[in-house]
Amino acid sequence: MTKYDLIIRDALALFDGRDPVICDVACSNGTIERIDSAIDARAAKEIHADGNLLIPGVIDAQVHFRDPGNTHKEDLASGSRAAVSGGVTSFLEMPNTSPPTIDQNALDNKLARAAECSVANYGFFIGATSDNLDSINNAHPACGIKIFMGSSTGTLLVYEDEHLDNIFANGNRLIAVHAEDEQRLRERQQMFVGDGTNKLDVAMHSEIRDDICALLATERAVRLSRKYNRRLHVLHLTSAREVEFLRQNKTSHITVECTPNHLFMTVQDYERLQSRAQMNPPIRSAHDQQTLWEGLHDGTIDFIATDHAPHTRQEKDQPYPASPSGMPGVETSLPLMLTACLMDNKCSLQDILKWMCMGPAQAYRIPNKGKIEVGYDADLAICDIENSRPVEDNRLFTKVKWSPFSGKELIGWPKWTVVGGKIAFADSKICEDTRGSQIKFET
Ligand code: DOR
Repeated sequence: MTKYDLIIRDALALFDGRDPVICDVACSNGTIERIDSAIDARAAKEIHADGNLLIPGVIDAQVHFRDPGNTHKEDLASGSRAAVSGGVTSFLEMPNTSPPTIDQNALDNKLARAAECSVANYGFFIGATSDNLDSINNAHPACGIKIFMGSSTGTLLVYEDEHLDNIFANGNRLIAVHAEDEQRLRERQQMFVGDGTNKLDVAMHSEIRDDICALLATERAVRLSRKYNRRLHVLHLTSAREVEFLRQNKTSHITVECTPNHLFMTVQDYERLQSRAQMNPPIRSAHDQQTLWEGLHDGTIDFIATDHAPHTRQEKDQPYPASPSGMPGVETSLPLMLTACLMDNKCSLQDILKWMCMGPAQAYRIPNKGKIEVGYDADLAICDIENSRPVEDNRLFTKVKWSPFSGKELIGWPKWTVVGGKIAFADSKICEDTRGSQIKFET
């Protein structure tokens, strides 16, 4: 009798293009080997899914895990544990660590550290500076080049025409942009903050970094992508103006993402969360939020990534503008979306599959991930869509132990997460012996 590494039995499996069906899924050597209504075989391990929802593991294509440099906020061990607890089996991590990931050496260090301790699959961006063209084009393996066109957390920033032109003109890797216009941002910062003696409310953050700031940089990046036929990914889109612009001007070389923070929060939330809700680009109006949902539904926005950007409570609770920008989110994105789908009718399960699994795999050209199909990697999440529980700080795996969604009642929490055919999360606990693998990217 065939023996598999793992069989998941009686799962309500979500396949591309059809309604979920109850079936068994067998995995060996890290891949899905068989899908059938009932698999009469043995396995080294079995999961009795009991009708819980089986989906491909989420690919979170934008996280900040702070390793090296600020590991009191997060590190690759804690960040990857937070990921799998939320059904995220693969992450792409940003280069604004300390030191930043701007050359092969820094990239190698991250890869070595991830191989040692990451329970999820991992890929890393290489960060652009004004003079590291050789590194951004040749450092290997990298999921893409990250350009901060406006300043945010860390030191990375490229905003001068000459340097942006040089990067877009030379090379063919995907360029992912943090699109906020540095010039306008500085002018508005000066206008609002002045010499630093003005008392500022954190809600000003969304006015300083306004939607025009975002639009100007997005327009500029799109112009450069069109001029040089260069693959472009616009990170964390926030505004109606950008959605409307991209609806008209997106090409087949361009992909776009938005975050759950912008889908589930608006400027109204500053009152409740104060500077905990501060991020770049900032949360915006209800109209912007509504337009992001429309952009997802009409395909202007390709997928969702969290921009998981942990800072400690103490750091965040300093008075604005001393408070740093960013919120944790890697472990709440899937339950948030499943709740939005199943309780609030905001989208379908097929949408979630497209926006959280297949979409990022396509944009970053990750083969064999993002679907439940024979031959695909056995990265899977089994979620409880019957019972709800609130987001509780003390149950979070992120080092910073807070969430902008604390107290929010959600369904869809993963009961098991499988990474490369191995159980990485079960019974609310991390399986400490499981390790993720380096994600491969097609060129
Ligand atoms: O709010 C943000 N925080 N936006 C970013 O672009 C960076 C991130 C961080 O690393 O803290």
